Amino acid sequence: MKIGFVGAGSLARALGHALALGGHEVVYGVRAEAKLEAGEVPILTAIQAEVVVLAVPFAVVRELLPGLATQLTGKIVVDATNPVNADWSPMLLGQENSAAEEVARALPGARVVKAFNTIFADVLRQAPEPRPAGRVSCFVASDHDEARAIVVELARSAGLAPVEVGPLTVARQLEAMAHLNIQIAVGMKGGTNAAFVYE
Ligand SMILES: NC(=O)c1ccc[n+]([C@@H]2O[C@H](COP(=O)([O-])OP(=O)(O)OC[C@H]3O[C@@H](n4cnc5c(N)ncnc54)[C@H](OP(=O)(O)O)[C@@H]3O)[C@@H](O)[C@H]2O)c1
Repeated sequence: MKIGFVGAGSLARALGHALALGGHEVVYGVRAEAKLEAGEVPILTAIQAEVVVLAVPFAVVRELLPGLATQLTGKIVVDATNPVNADWSPMLLGQENSAAEEVARALPGARVVKAFNTIFADVLRQAPEPRPAGRVSCFVASDHDEARAIVVELARSAGLAPVEVGPLTVARQLEAMAHLNIQIAVGMKGGTNAAFVYE
């Protein structure tokens, strides 16, 4: 499939690497259009792909999405963001809310899927070694069955073990899991070479 990232940072490049190994065509949408590096295109070009992955800070997503809503109508939009502050603490969005639900409200015509947010870029970048394919869990939530099924297959092709977790509101728990992941990695200095395995 054609996959367009919004962003070309750590997560985008690492997940893009894993997806490219899985046979997908990947481009990275960047704002610095004057100095494009390998695989990079303007954001408006990247979001023409069949599947668009949001891989920029959540605060940036909030700024960017209203201007992209028309172009993203009908698309599968994967929200891989985590709402964190500059010091890595959780950005508090309210108990009955999540970054993914904010994305869905900003993009009423898109099929929004929450996925990949609980996996560190350092883990994705190592694909296909040292962890065996299909070991690391990738939790996938969406209100759109077909979109969720497509992202499940994308995760599998990237060497991950997809776990369907239900509707988009479950993103509240997935974002909390990511906060825990960050707390262990950064707060407790456990490092980012670690991942959730659901078995
Ligand atoms: N890194 C991880 O392990 C990981 C894991 C799971 C989820 N996530 C989530 O993935 C997202 C990206 O994280 P990251 O670690 O990849 O961050 P990063 O390495 O700092 O990359 C951020 C990307 O966002 C772009 N960006 C920043 N401000 C922008 C703006 N105003 N307009 C357009 N693009 C802008 C940056 O482009 P410039 O180079 O032009 O600034 C860069 O491509 C975050 O929401 C994070 O919570 C990260």
